[in-house]
Amino acid sequence: MNNQDIANLYSEFVLPTYKQHPVCLVKGKGSRVWDIQGKAYLDFFPGWGVSGIGHCHPVVIHAIKEQVRKIIHVPNNFLNLKQAQLAKEISKRSFPSRVFFCNSGAEAIESAIKFARKFGSEEGRYEIISMEQSFHGRTLAALTATGQEKFHHGFEPLVSGFRYAQLNNFESVKRLVNEKTVAILLELIQGEGGIHVATQEFVKKLEALCKEKNLLLIFDEVQTGMGRTGKWFVYQHYGIEPDLMVLAKTLGGGAPIGALVAHKRIQKEVLTPGTHASTYGGNPLAASASLAVFKAVEREKLLQNAQEMGIYLKNKLEELKTKYSIIKEVRGIGLMLGVELSISGVKISNKCMERGLLINCTQEKVLRIVPAMTVSKRLIDQAVRILDQVLGETS
Ligand SMILES: Cc1ncc(COP(=O)(O)O)c(C=O)c1O
Repeated sequence: MNNQDIANLYSEFVLPTYKQHPVCLVKGKGSRVWDIQGKAYLDFFPGWGVSGIGHCHPVVIHAIKEQVRKIIHVPNNFLNLKQAQLAKEISKRSFPSRVFFCNSGAEAIESAIKFARKFGSEEGRYEIISMEQSFHGRTLAALTATGQEKFHHGFEPLVSGFRYAQLNNFESVKRLVNEKTVAILLELIQGEGGIHVATQEFVKKLEALCKEKNLLLIFDEVQTGMGRTGKWFVYQHYGIEPDLMVLAKTLGGGAPIGALVAHKRIQKEVLTPGTHASTYGGNPLAASASLAVFKAVEREKLLQNAQEMGIYLKNKLEELKTKYSIIKEVRGIGLMLGVELSISGVKISNKCMERGLLINCTQEKVLRIVPAMTVSKRLIDQAVRILDQVLGETS
């Protein structure tokens, strides 16, 4: 079978919810993937952030293999060793917390929304303020929390109780707070929104506002979490702990898992037995893969590598900016970087793909470059060389 054969199968049997490249990826190792016809690609957007420690990391493979031999699934009305160990690991790396597990980012956001509603239910508080240009997933409440109308079209009526403010505009948040407000939800670096970074001042003010009004501060770390920015979680750059944190993507090293992390400073017992559940959430297979991600990040000092390689890559991209006037700005933290262009970026990302480099384009003009934390200077040089050639031909 070749790429076209698989594309034909899709046309006939798979609902067309994705804009797809007619390329079938069948193998991955570190920062490289191969298609079914044997073409190799340098992957600087691995799995939309899922393969944050590289494809098929040996520690993850080993953990999954060991676990499938023992037991693949344990229902959540029984104790599951790996889930308990994973919750402890997440808590140890973040803040004193307890964790609820599910299978994806959107489900983790749904869990946070349910947590917040339950938290405010006795006082009739349920409104959540999220940010314009945010992205929180595709299930109905996560979709509603997402502050981009293009994702809402055709799915109305949306879930009630969401209001939208502007990132880094504190007054726009404050204006929306009323007696029904229960939480503020944001990504500290908007990914899909075009790599926009929240300022320290904005986040500090949000923290103070949440304390004053007894609101929950919720950080969506689905893309930023697990080390990509050079710290375990991006909030650690700000010196502020959220009440709730949402994780997925790199958390599972490729296995589907999501998590809602609730700070122990929340005094109330909010999600009590029977109020929330997930059949698969945190099952032994996914939890083992996730424990292996923690082990690999620690053993291979990937936080340090993400920090150093992030600076290296950003400098290289800044060099390209001095060469090409179509580059307006390079922004981001660690290995979560965006290059804003003055022209359409899709042409650029497509041409990069033809030459064997996978990157993403978001918001039409922003190239999203988020390589695995295991990336090296050699691979960055290769990737930047391809981007340089493509920009040279396009400018
Ligand atoms: C910040 C953020 N939150 C939530 C999600 C939704 O995650 P999932 O696709 O696993 O449901 C995404 C997905 O891209 C995301 O980037």
